[in-house]
Amino acid sequence: MQDKIDLFEHKSKSWDMEDRRIKNAKSIADFIVKNISLSKKMEIIDFGAGTGLLSYFVAPYVGKIVAVDNSPSMLEKFKEKQTEFACDTEIIKGDLSAIAFEKKFDGIVSSMTMHHVEDIYALFSDFYKILNDRGFIVIADLDKEDGSFHTDNTGVHHYGFDRQLLETIAQNAGFKEITFETASTIKKPHSDFTVFVMTARKG
Ligand SMILES: C[S@@+](CC[C@H](N)C(=O)[O-])C[C@H]1O[C@@H](n2cnc3c(N)ncnc32)[C@H](O)[C@@H]1O
Repeated sequence: MQDKIDLFEHKSKSWDMEDRRIKNAKSIADFIVKNISLSKKMEIIDFGAGTGLLSYFVAPYVGKIVAVDNSPSMLEKFKEKQTEFACDTEIIKGDLSAIAFEKKFDGIVSSMTMHHVEDIYALFSDFYKILNDRGFIVIADLDKEDGSFHTDNTGVHHYGFDRQLLETIAQNAGFKEITFETASTIKKPHSDFTVFVMTARKG
């Protein structure tokens, strides 16, 4: 079977060069460290890890990060930096739904990836399945926007998210203790875009 097209191939080389991306990942990581009790015994997934911007800032606080992403070029950049992460890391290429994990995880973090996933209902149920009891999710993404955040919307399935709808989807998947906060604002010349952080636990 032919591999899927790598939608991030043209962006991967310069991904880490944009200051606003690093600032956004750092804001999300700061939120995680402040609000979730992390430990060096924990093994977590970074869903849509890309080049590892979020993983890098979270790494000092956990034992292992499994970087899941379906873009070979983004993961290539993650791999180049792998020795610089302050915890063990493992790279798995693929969609979350297609990976047969042999174990469960203490948490899932994700930054700016969910809007690329078509079926959010299935995604939350996949998150739930691969977590240990009381495992956490911390998902950061755009609040509802008008479609002007990306210059090219290829592979963008959602123009941001309505927080209330996400809460309902997460509840239906079985998640409890659902919270939302604004983590950062991404300023572009034509508009500002807010990024929410959603947290929840496997009940
Ligand atoms: C906007 S980038 C964010 C990368 C990184 N989290 C960051 O904040 O810099 C979105 C990432 O999600 C990945 N991605 C999109 N859909 C995916 C899916 N269904 N399964 C796994 N990874 C996916 C892309 O390949 C890309 O690396």
